[in-house]
Amino acid sequence: MTGLNINEKQIGIARQRAQERGLDRLTAFQFCDCSQHLPFPDASVDVIINIESACHYADRPRFIAECARVLRSGGRLVAQDWMAADGLSEADRKRYIAPLEAARFLHRLDNLSSYRGLLQGAGLRVTKAELIKDGIRPNGYIMRMGYRTVTECGQRQTLTDYEIANRERFRTFSESLLGGSLKVGYYVAEKPRPSPRRVDAAGGMNGGGGALGGT
Ligand SMILES: C[S@@+](CC[C@H](N)C(=O)[O-])C[C@H]1O[C@@H](n2cnc3c(N)ncnc32)[C@H](O)[C@@H]1O
Repeated sequence: MTGLNINEKQIGIARQRAQERGLDRLTAFQFCDCSQHLPFPDASVDVIINIESACHYADRPRFIAECARVLRSGGRLVAQDWMAADGLSEADRKRYIAPLEAARFLHRLDNLSSYRGLLQGAGLRVTKAELIKDGIRPNGYIMRMGYRTVTECGQRQTLTDYEIANRERFRTFSESLLGGSLKVGYYVAEKPRPSPRRVDAAGGMNGGGGALGGT
C-alpha cells in the first residue's frame, strides 16, 4: 500500500505510525500532488482509496483521469468526498458553498451528478454513488456550537480578526450542512475489464468491444 499526500509533515507521521505497528515493510508513503499525476505505471493499481481529499484538488478531472490510467482492469476507485447539493441555484451556491470553498481550500465542489459525469467520462463504470443521509448532521451541530461559543465570547471581549473569520466559517459551515446545501457522498467506480473474446461462426476470435477487442 502506498499512501500519497501533498503534506510532508503528514507523510512523516504516517511513516512513524506504520513503523510503530510493524507495517513499514508493507507500506510506503510519498509526497504527491494527486491533482497532477499519480506516481504509478499504467494499469498497475488494484484499489485507490480517496477519503475527503479530492475536494481540495485544483484539477479533479485530471485526478480521475489519472485514477483511470493507473487502475488495472477490474480495479476500483473507492471514495468519499464533500459535495455541493445537486441542483443548487447559483445564488445558494454563492451564499453557502463559495465561502466554504474560499475558507477551507476547497476547489469548486462537485455534486453527485457531476462526479458521475467525471467518472464515466474517464471510462470508469460507476457501481455505487450515494449521499450520506443523516450521518453528517452532527458536524453541523458542532459547527453551530462553535459559532455560538465565539459569538458569546464576542459579547465579553473584543474578538481578533482571526476569531471573527473563524466564527463566520463556523456559521457558513453549519448553515450549509444543516440547510442541505453541503453534502458528503461516496462512490465506487470500476475500470471495466476487456470484453471476453468469443469464437465467431467462422472460427475466428472476436473481441466484441472496440479497441480492447481481440485481434
Ligand atoms: C480533509 S483531509 C482527509 C484526510 C484523510 N483522508 C481522512 O479522512 O482523515 C484532506 C487530506 O488531503 C490532503 N491533500 C490535499 N490536497 C492534496 C493534493 N493535491 N494531493 C495530495 N493530497 C492532498 C491533505 O494534506 C489532507 O491530508
